[in-house]
Amino acid sequence: MSIQLQHPVFEIVSRIAAANNTPAYVIGGYVRDYLLERPSKDIDIVVVGSGIKMAELVVANLAKAPRISVFSNFGTAMLKWKGYDIEFVGARKESYRKESRKPLVENGTLEDDQLRRDFTINAMAFSLNKEDYGALLDPFNGLEDLKNGIIRTPLEPGITFSDDPLRMLRAIRFSTQLDFVIEDNTFEAIQKQAERIKIISMERVSEELNKILLSDKPSFGFKLLEKSGLLKYIFPELQEMKGVSPKNGQRHKDNFYHTLEVVDNLSSKTDNLWLLWAALLHDIGKPPTRRFSPDTGWTFHGHEIVGARMVPEIFRSLRLPLNEKMKYVQALVLLHLRPIILSNEEITDSAVRRLLFDASDNIDDLMMMCEADITSKNPETVKKHLRNFSSVRKKLKEIEEKDAIRNFQPPITGEMIISTFGIPPGKEVGDIKNAIKEAILDGKIRNKYEEAYDYMLQIAADMGISPKHQ
Ligand code: CTP
Repeated sequence: MSIQLQHPVFEIVSRIAAANNTPAYVIGGYVRDYLLERPSKDIDIVVVGSGIKMAELVVANLAKAPRISVFSNFGTAMLKWKGYDIEFVGARKESYRKESRKPLVENGTLEDDQLRRDFTINAMAFSLNKEDYGALLDPFNGLEDLKNGIIRTPLEPGITFSDDPLRMLRAIRFSTQLDFVIEDNTFEAIQKQAERIKIISMERVSEELNKILLSDKPSFGFKLLEKSGLLKYIFPELQEMKGVSPKNGQRHKDNFYHTLEVVDNLSSKTDNLWLLWAALLHDIGKPPTRRFSPDTGWTFHGHEIVGARMVPEIFRSLRLPLNEKMKYVQALVLLHLRPIILSNEEITDSAVRRLLFDASDNIDDLMMMCEADITSKNPETVKKHLRNFSSVRKKLKEIEEKDAIRNFQPPITGEMIISTFGIPPGKEVGDIKNAIKEAILDGKIRNKYEEAYDYMLQIAADMGISPKHQ
């Protein structure tokens, strides 16, 4: 097989390769994605010789020369050109490990290099050499595996995974993204070596988890993570969710599978990674709050509060950002029962106002997540809940239009209270401010300055505070 290579860098590399007698190839993800017709912005070029020297010569041939970043320890050089990240590396005999701290040891042939890559579908190369420009070099039948949808290692899988245990996660991630099957031997090797994932940095682990979450059907990946035995090492809190705890003939819903259903439902509606994280974690407080009572069976009281408290620790251990993204996830976990409770009750205006106040700008995301949380085997039940949900949505819209609670700004500020009554900042000011907020949320007064001002005077009078004389 031979193809028409598109990017202008290929021609340039080809000329330099011929002039310097250093054969060069485009390899790895770019080749795989080209054959899958998935556009890719990363080009990896492997050179039988020095990758760094090749990068320098390429740059010398470009009109507007980009800067190159050289990593001499690993024998690689990177440049950004025409919207592409292009990386050059010398062919090596030892395993290909990006970001590995171990320096490059031995130069090798193209085939040595292909053999030490992770999967047959990632080990294919296109020649950039004059004699067979564009030819596919595929010693391990990667193309066949690509056509049949199979993830398989070029070497005995035990060796490939022990060279770099992250590859066990990559296997599951590719299988999820591409809807491929992991070949039996390869999967068994993952099961055998699962514990070695512990030596991989959590940053790299969560990068893979993020890619699984952003795929079309995240449940596929999380089920494989569980089945392979990897999940308990990288994300024990999620592993804990599996099971139905049979007791006295009573069992509860399997929260692991339920959660995955919610994530799948949501993933068809959004590619907001943090909303997907919130869905993955929404019931994470269930295992620690699980109690059994012979009368009521299994309960999970307060699981939303416990779950929200667990979020920072989970983010810390997975090295996910501890910033407003984490707070957003935490807020959604904490509030995830509120719309459901509302939808099952007579919907009062004040309950709706409180939900709008507490969720603020996250209200639409919260509603989307909670709608995805309606999973039941009985289609009638689902239909009923969805109907109730749509009345909650309607009510939210009405109240928001009327009362503008979503981005609630107190109509009376602390400073106004201080200057009206001539009292120092302190508890009394806070109490008056809070009473006004509560009155608005309860619907006693509207979210308007005049009404809030009159109410403030009334509250203050009840507290024995009178306005200072001007
Ligand atoms: N590679 C490997 N082992 C790893 C990481 C990467 O063998 N642990 C090799 C594979 O040949 C891979 C190539 O390096 O195709 C480039 O790696 P990377 O850019 O991380 O991944 P891609 O395969 O391009 O895929 P994606 O961008 O989706 O991660």
